[in-house]
Amino acid sequence: MASVPSLAATVHQRVADALSASLPEAASADPLLRRSDRADFQANGMLALAKKLKGNPRELATKVVEAMPSSDEIARIEVSGPGFLNITVADAAIVRNLAARAADERLGVPYAEQPGTTVIDYSQPNVAKEMHVGHLRSTVIGDAVVKILEHRGETVIRRHHIGDWGTQFGMLIQYLEEHPHELDHGGEAPGAAGGSGDSGEAAMSRLNRLYKASRALFDSDEEFKQRARDRVVLLQSGDERTLEAWRRIVGESMIYFHAVYDQLDVEIRDEDVVGESAYNDDLQQVVKELEESGVAVRSEGALCVFFDDVKGPDGKPVPLIVQKSNGGFGYAATDLAAIRDRVGKLGADTLLYVVDARQALHFKMVFETARRAGWLPEGAARQLAFGTVLGKDGKPFKTREGETVRLVDLLGEAVERATAVVREKAEQGGLELTEEEIAERGGQVGIGAVKYADLSTSMSRDYVFDLDRMVSLNGDTSVYLQYAYARIQSILRKAGDARPVPHPELSLQPAERTLGLHLDEFAETLAGVAETYEPHKLAAYLYGLASHYTTFYDQCPVLKAEDAATVENRLFLCDLTARTLHQGMALLGIRTPERL
Ligand code: ARG
Repeated sequence: MASVPSLAATVHQRVADALSASLPEAASADPLLRRSDRADFQANGMLALAKKLKGNPRELATKVVEAMPSSDEIARIEVSGPGFLNITVADAAIVRNLAARAADERLGVPYAEQPGTTVIDYSQPNVAKEMHVGHLRSTVIGDAVVKILEHRGETVIRRHHIGDWGTQFGMLIQYLEEHPHELDHGGEAPGAAGGSGDSGEAAMSRLNRLYKASRALFDSDEEFKQRARDRVVLLQSGDERTLEAWRRIVGESMIYFHAVYDQLDVEIRDEDVVGESAYNDDLQQVVKELEESGVAVRSEGALCVFFDDVKGPDGKPVPLIVQKSNGGFGYAATDLAAIRDRVGKLGADTLLYVVDARQALHFKMVFETARRAGWLPEGAARQLAFGTVLGKDGKPFKTREGETVRLVDLLGEAVERATAVVREKAEQGGLELTEEEIAERGGQVGIGAVKYADLSTSMSRDYVFDLDRMVSLNGDTSVYLQYAYARIQSILRKAGDARPVPHPELSLQPAERTLGLHLDEFAETLAGVAETYEPHKLAAYLYGLASHYTTFYDQCPVLKAEDAATVENRLFLCDLTARTLHQGMALLGIRTPERL
């Protein structure tokens, strides 16, 4: 569990020390060190500093070089251009640093110094409805953020704020009351047919049937409509018989959600599913406190919160409606109750909401209301707003008939494509896989492709759902990373008696240095990703790693290297690359098959 400072951090510290030793007035100046093509690192902070001190940057840089004590890490440091410092680290220092990482099961990644408690709200599908691409994004991004934060030692409490409450349930429950067999399993014994996917689909089709039938009646029969409305009142007042029917509907949906989660290879635990209904008993209290404190006011019968900077197109203020004029509660009320619970009872110091960017205004108003009410410390809540998934036409993803695309269909197609790719590659490469192995890997590659395409795009951006690109073997795809990993495993298997052993006494080829320095950046990359909640930066790091590995593999023979020590050292680089890829991909929720 030893944290290993990167060479970049060490060199940065050395230059900063030399800077303050040679120039006391610059004690806290940042040398601005970055990776560079010219040398390993370049520091250009002397330029801005010289300007500030009205000095000559080259002279300043020369002074810093003179003040640098000799060290094991730095092989060469020289002034270049207008006053940059070019720094080359020693080959031995690279290998020694990587050896320290390899000796640690966390690859030298430290825990956060002051971990806190984060409550993260993600994957919140709606009961009795299909899951769509929006739910895919929330699930995949949320799962990665959970893993990344937990890896740092943060206490993470997951909340799936599913849409399981509201007036729409009156209609469904009333219909079910009047047609008690509507959700019965037609013919087939429950759970008998096939895998969980089948029963999930069956559950959803029963719900669809219930939804369509009750909707038709609701729209055509005034008396049913009234009975459905009365049913909502019964539901909210906790009538046991009504709750019973409601639970059947929620239970049926949970079967479907879990089937999708299984297919997506994401673990969602029942105890973390705390839907809108869970806050029902708190809503009166929310209203009371908001009204008493004057945070909310009655306006045309409704309980509203107003904001100076939120206005509609007509210039009139648009309020957050906490309670409707008929006494009903909406989406805002449950979110406010959830904040009180998460901060007050669960002890969260950070609240995250992985929700579509189109709900940004809602969260802005909810957070501000909770802050005014004293339930939420300033800045403690944040929406991780994600963009829209687009079709190839650049418009929000729809079927040809203009309907929302079902997530199960998309995932099924991704797995099918990926399976074809796996089969073809195995045949080309002479890798004998059984049908079962092909299917398993097809699943891991297909689901990985969908997750990676999502996670490698910066969250707030829209992206085009393009399966051809997602399962492509070249370019920035999970398949490319998975093949890099599998190729390394195959080399390690072929190595026979040769073991991965670091040899700091050897000099390194350029491709080995580039790969090594990139491996050394893993811990800092992860820390940055966790601080800013940007999984796409981890994806970019891993893609860089696989690319540097590919170059290394092309330029530096591993098992056929000139001597035994070089073979061992290169196997060591291979092994650490594989472990880093595996760890990084796992944090993104993506599998790395051993053979592909
Ligand atoms: N169920 C909502 C939807 O499908 C998302 C809920 C987001 N979470 C929340 N706390 N409001 O759009």
